[in-house]
Amino acid sequence: MNSPHVDALFQPFRVKSLALKNRIVMAPMTRSFSPEGVPGDDVAAYYRRRAESDVGLILSEGTVIDRPASRNDPGIPFFHGEAALAGWQRVIDGVHAAGGRMGPQIWHTGSVVSFQTEWTPEAPVESPSGLIAPGQPRGNAMSDEAIAESIAAFSRAAADAKRLGFDTLEIHGAHGYLIDQFFWAGTNARTDRFGGATLKQRARFAAEVVKGVRGAVGPDFPLMLRVSQWKQQDFAARLAETPDAMAEWLVPLVEAGADVLHCSQRRFWEPEFPEVDGEAGLNFAGWAKKLTGAATVSVGSVGLSGDFMAAFGGESSKPASLDNLVHRMEREEFDLIAVGRAILSDPQWVTKVREGNLEGLQDFSAAAFRELV
Ligand SMILES: Cc1cc2nc3c(=O)[nH]c(=O)nc-3n(C[C@H](O)[C@H](O)[C@H](O)COP(=O)(O)O)c2cc1C
Repeated sequence: MNSPHVDALFQPFRVKSLALKNRIVMAPMTRSFSPEGVPGDDVAAYYRRRAESDVGLILSEGTVIDRPASRNDPGIPFFHGEAALAGWQRVIDGVHAAGGRMGPQIWHTGSVVSFQTEWTPEAPVESPSGLIAPGQPRGNAMSDEAIAESIAAFSRAAADAKRLGFDTLEIHGAHGYLIDQFFWAGTNARTDRFGGATLKQRARFAAEVVKGVRGAVGPDFPLMLRVSQWKQQDFAARLAETPDAMAEWLVPLVEAGADVLHCSQRRFWEPEFPEVDGEAGLNFAGWAKKLTGAATVSVGSVGLSGDFMAAFGGESSKPASLDNLVHRMEREEFDLIAVGRAILSDPQWVTKVREGNLEGLQDFSAAAFRELV
């Protein structure tokens, strides 16, 4: 039975060929359980359990394109090569058999160092200007050729996602990784057409990735793009300080072919521009929807008392009220809501919420990162 209180979360949603039974998305979460870059049966079963328990749309953990140094952890899955793609085929087939919908999150980690492992790739690390953060060198500044090959590798991954039968795909343009390193003035000091003083200029790499991907999947395939103001290198960083700057950043990306913007915040209830619409104002996904007209996904500490970066530090969280989320969904501030840790640690989280079984919701402990439940 559905709990009437959470009705707004359980409305169907459609974008192009993607028809979802509810508004809840499993957030992309790196699990590092894919040795040699190949997702195995344990990974397939982990995603299938979420499909069996009412998750509307599953986004995979970040899975990397065919570039020599596109990952920063040896347990991150590839989205290229026969063995890895055969693994992903088993993942999507399992999710579909359980009636679920899923897209891979396509990724290049740029020059970011993993905070989980000291491993580094054998090939030289690459980033827009050879920086990991403002004033901090790491890796090579990308040549024109490296940029063109990266765009082509994103497009090939997209073609593979469609060929394997995935329902959508998400390009990871957030959190200080490669694409975001182009957006951020602090890591993009290029003087060619991929750099510049304006956000629109620094968004060109992302726009070309989106265009390449769109070309690879055709007009009807729904395409998601994840973006964030914050960077793991600097939680307080902001790309867009005003709604106008945000429009200058995001409108070209929607025009390039992104159908859905996945607007990453650490806490979904925080207003993006409180100086414009007050402390109860629109969040990032709310503003992105208003400014671009695209569908948007919000995210950040849904159902939990503490945020996810604190969880990496070992902090536990308690279940938290969904009232604020339901209220924002009812006013159609954004279209979908992604849930990370709550679904990582409890495959039945969505079913429990749907049935109003709130006593059944568990605390989140960092121990959950160590296994695939
Ligand atoms: C273990 C873990 C791994 C993550 N890996 C990724 C990732 O690969 N790609 C990504 O875009 N975000 C990643 N994130 C961020 C989540 O997608 C999400 O935005 C974040 O956890 C906030 O949601 P939550 O508060 O509901 O957990 C990760 C988060 C966690 C906890």
